[in-house]
Amino acid sequence: MTTTESATSTAAAPRAEVRFPPGFLWGAATASYQIEGAAAEGGRTPSIWDTFARVPGAVVGGDNGDVACDHYYRMPDDVALMASLNLGAYRFSTAWPRVRPDGGAPNQAGIDFYSRLVDQLLGAGITPWVTLYHWDLPQALEDEGGWTNRDTAYRFAEYALTLYDALEDRVPYWTTMNEPWCSAFLGYTGGQHAPGRQEGVAGLVAAHHLMLGHGLVVDELRRRGSTADLGITLNLTVADPFDPTEPADVDAAHRVDHLWNRVFLDPILRGSYAEELPTITAGLTWQGRAWEDFVQDGDLALISTPLDVLGVNYYHGDGASGRPHPADDLLGSRVEAPSRSVRSPFPGGGDLTFPRRGYPVTGLDWEVQPEGLTRLLVRLHEDYDVPPIYITENGAAYDDAVSPDGSVHDPERWGYIGSHLRAVHAAMAAGVDVRGYFAWSLLDNFEWAFGYGQRFGIVHVDYETLRRTPKTSALRYADVAATSTLVDDR
Ligand code: FCB
Repeated sequence: MTTTESATSTAAAPRAEVRFPPGFLWGAATASYQIEGAAAEGGRTPSIWDTFARVPGAVVGGDNGDVACDHYYRMPDDVALMASLNLGAYRFSTAWPRVRPDGGAPNQAGIDFYSRLVDQLLGAGITPWVTLYHWDLPQALEDEGGWTNRDTAYRFAEYALTLYDALEDRVPYWTTMNEPWCSAFLGYTGGQHAPGRQEGVAGLVAAHHLMLGHGLVVDELRRRGSTADLGITLNLTVADPFDPTEPADVDAAHRVDHLWNRVFLDPILRGSYAEELPTITAGLTWQGRAWEDFVQDGDLALISTPLDVLGVNYYHGDGASGRPHPADDLLGSRVEAPSRSVRSPFPGGGDLTFPRRGYPVTGLDWEVQPEGLTRLLVRLHEDYDVPPIYITENGAAYDDAVSPDGSVHDPERWGYIGSHLRAVHAAMAAGVDVRGYFAWSLLDNFEWAFGYGQRFGIVHVDYETLRRTPKTSALRYADVAATSTLVDDR
């Protein structure tokens, strides 16, 4: 690796130029429900997000993904936009209810849409990277119990293989699940995300079944001798005690590490659940049973089928506390939240709090902590037998202003991306094998429970006209993508 700075000098010389190695993949990411629209077209049936978005108070402003960025109809132009930004790769997700509506038979119109997208990308010299599940479970399967029903894992494998059969000749990277933590714990424990269930340790049951679905797919593709790069994307954190001298905070950070990171890392990369997880969740039951009762013989062998790549999504670290703090001191208190009441997403973690630590925050009241990404990557490298890593999402929401001439200057977003690129580079200098970076997101889009008010795009979307305008961050990112060099993040 050519470098003009070492890992240790990053903090001291934040403006120094950093170079990434040849072949480093530069991309941007999106997800089906967040951008496609055309919710009832081409044979697509409702997903849990179509349903959840209509629950009063579940999404800020009552927004939904019916139209979103209209990408379903503007796809060729969007690919041309990516090419104009020098993107080497595009990570998108496929909508299960388009490909197998209601979780049933394959739908050719849905498959064809993704096939055209892949051809369009290849024609523009952009590598397609498919994510099979980015949260849009067919509602019909949720009606049968969703991810708390073991059968959903097998339905997922059917859907995944349908799409794999159609695209394997052209798609080199396949991610099974995006952020199963959110699907499991925001979906079934806290209720912040679809399907909005608040059933305590059901989140761990869902997590197990999500990982089982992942394992079934990877195992089957290995049996078939797939030459594609197969992986999963986890949203991981670096959990620190808010006050390291407070035993309650030290314990809180330890629990968060288990209930956020290790709950997925250990089964997937070691083939076992962390020894302490059952202790942390002791006494919690769902439908009269402990979550471990849902783990069957052979599951962990499937779940730990070796991977070619690990996708890491990082937005912020976490300073956990096991004590109450004044409401305004808590992160998230300065952003307009959905009005529907929710619970802690951590099973048995009702006492956990996340007070402000004095870092700058983004529009979502998320702390900006780039050094956490370096520590996270080094930890993965040291603690696990980890395959090559790709940063499959990183980015920030800010309240962008459109200038009278239509341009959008977003120095804060570019500062965020630049500082995190430096953090990735520092981890690489420390020996971590990171092979690519995807900005979240290509476009402003439907930010789940926060609706359209939170903009993560490097490209601005005017939701009245659906016009796309690259922000300054997109233009700066295009330079990095072209040269593999970050010169300046001011
Ligand atoms: C991640 C999601 C992605 C987007 C970003 C901001 O958790 O994977 O869809 O919402 O957060």
